[in-house]
Amino acid sequence: MFYTAALENPIFRKVGQMADRMGVQAFVIGGYVRDYFLRRPSTDIDVVVTGSGIALAEALGRELHTKVSVFKNFGTAMLRAGDWEVEFVGARKESYRADSRKPIVEDGTLEDDQLRRDFTINAMAFALNADRFGELVDPFGGMSDLEQCIIRTPCDPDVTFSDDPLRMIRAVRFAAQLGFDLYPETFEAIERNSSRIEIVSHERITTELNKIMLSPVPSIGYDLFDRMGLLPYILPELVRLKGVEKINGRAHKDNFLHTLKVLDNVALRSDNLWLRWAALLHDIAKPATKAYDPRVGWTFHQHEVLGSKMVPAIFRRLKLPMNEHMKYVQKLVFLHLRPIILAEDIVTDSAVRRLLFEAGDDIDDLMTLCEADITSGIESKVKRYLRNFALVREKLREIEEKDRIRNFQPPITGEIIMSTYGLAPCREIGTIKEAIKDAILDGQISNDYDEAYALMEQLAESMGLHKVSTDSMNRTL
Ligand code: CTP
Repeated sequence: MFYTAALENPIFRKVGQMADRMGVQAFVIGGYVRDYFLRRPSTDIDVVVTGSGIALAEALGRELHTKVSVFKNFGTAMLRAGDWEVEFVGARKESYRADSRKPIVEDGTLEDDQLRRDFTINAMAFALNADRFGELVDPFGGMSDLEQCIIRTPCDPDVTFSDDPLRMIRAVRFAAQLGFDLYPETFEAIERNSSRIEIVSHERITTELNKIMLSPVPSIGYDLFDRMGLLPYILPELVRLKGVEKINGRAHKDNFLHTLKVLDNVALRSDNLWLRWAALLHDIAKPATKAYDPRVGWTFHQHEVLGSKMVPAIFRRLKLPMNEHMKYVQKLVFLHLRPIILAEDIVTDSAVRRLLFEAGDDIDDLMTLCEADITSGIESKVKRYLRNFALVREKLREIEEKDRIRNFQPPITGEIIMSTYGLAPCREIGTIKEAIKDAILDGQISNDYDEAYALMEQLAESMGLHKVSTDSMNRTL
């Protein structure tokens, strides 16, 4: 079959013509071909050449007057054509000598190269030489696997995964991203080889993890990790969430399954990667805080506090960024019970104001997380919570409009207190500031300079503080 419609960008013809002139064969391979059939437009092109990929790229670069970046160690070269990025590599064949685990990499045919790629759906190629331009070369049934939604390795899966154990995570990533199933033998090989993931760097794993997080149903990925024995190597904290304990006939819910449900619920509502991470980690400290109280049953006191403390170590280990994204996840984990507590009780203005003050600009995301956290099977309960959350959201809107608490800065600063009373930094300043903040949040005074100033005067007087006279202020100036 020929698919010239996939190769409309003029760069494909140019690569083919240059390959003809140099007497080599060139093909587009991998993600571009897969994504063409999946109708996911891509501008990343991988070209494989039976011969030197670098030589072809350099010749083309000269003709197009374009810069070519050469990566000698990898035997690859890259050039840009408009927005498109084209990477060239020579077709490779790998074989193992009986006396050594180190592969011998030598020039190979297209089929040798396709055989050593990760999955059949990633091993399809379109020919670029003029005599067969657009021809699909698919010796391992990639097209049929694509149609049947199957992830399968082109060769013995033990070999594929031993070549690069990261491919076990990639298999899961493609399953989650595309909603595909793993071919039974591929699945079993991952189960068998799971511990080999230990030799792969966390950076590479995390790149795939983030793609799983951003997929439509991210739980597919974590469920597969669990069933194939990869989870302990990736996020052992999640393994500890698994299972149900029962005392006196009272059981708590399986927090692993609950977490996955919350993650999927968030994914339905938002494509914010970090909100999804917050969902995955929101109950991470439940195992460590679990206790049984004969009067109330299972408790997980302060799991939100401990959970937020666990976030930095998890981020560091996974080589996730230790910046404001980490702080955001920490904050959401820390606050994730607050709207639920509100929704269970009568929603007072001051409670809403305090929540708004603490969550700041992340309040909407926090509400999304909390709504997603309602995974009860009892419909009337879910309805009641969601109704109350709608009420909380409404109140949040009202109060924000009225009091502008969201990015609230108390109108009386420490400097104002110090200069008014001639104080050096001391405890009293903090006490006054805190009392003014509380008064505003509790609605006793409004978020206004004059009212806050009057309260400061009142508090200072009760503490026996005296204003510095304008005279003495002038003297010190
Ligand atoms: N590949 C492989 N083994 C890997 C990584 C990549 O065999 N561990 C091959 C596959 O043929 C893949 C191609 O290299 O299609 C390009 O890899 P990459 O750009 O990482 O992924 P894509 O398949 O293009 O997918 P995506 O763009 O979604 O990352």
